[in-house]
Amino acid sequence: MDAYYKSLLDKNKAWVKEKLLKDREFFDKLTEGQQPPLLWIGCADSRVPANQIIGAEPGEVFVHRNIANLVVHTDMNMLSVLDYAVNVLEVKHVIVCGHYGCGGVQAAMTNNSYGIIDNWIRHIKDVYRFHSKELDAITDETKKFDKFVELNVIEQVYDLAKTSIVQNAWKKGGDLNIHGWVYALKNGLIKDLNVTFNNDSQLNKTYQLDL
Ligand code: CO
Repeated sequence: MDAYYKSLLDKNKAWVKEKLLKDREFFDKLTEGQQPPLLWIGCADSRVPANQIIGAEPGEVFVHRNIANLVVHTDMNMLSVLDYAVNVLEVKHVIVCGHYGCGGVQAAMTNNSYGIIDNWIRHIKDVYRFHSKELDAITDETKKFDKFVELNVIEQVYDLAKTSIVQNAWKKGGDLNIHGWVYALKNGLIKDLNVTFNNDSQLNKTYQLDL
């Protein structure tokens, strides 16, 4: 068997040992249930592991990841995760975390075809079209890419706010805050885009639901 593959199981055993050394009841506590305060919607990119970059322990973060951290309102996977997080786990925060250097966002800036993924990337192209005036005006390619990454996160925050799940939670008076972050691969730091939504007042009237 491939040594790398085998090493994964060995590392798991070492991790268990380390956790038990610090806290004999670590796993016993986790079997009792979860009450994470946070839902993380991030990119599938291997360099942006949700728990590790915010120093969170198991049980702390409910996680949904896909290519380019998209909130697509017909994505049953995302909707199910969101519904469970908001209505059952009653998370207080939802964080959409994108990252600079995102391959999905970069692909959306080109006309290249990558196969079936083109249809997923198309959602990011829509973000470009919404903001094409601002993005086309940026001549520096890196700056344009960075801005596109940020705008993509912001649009996903809006898309969360537009869902009936989030609007229902707000109508019921729930304390639910939606945030947009961007992680920098080059130094590990997170930039808060300060686009926090905590009620539907900031939402474009077209999307407000009478619930
Ligand atoms: Co990415």
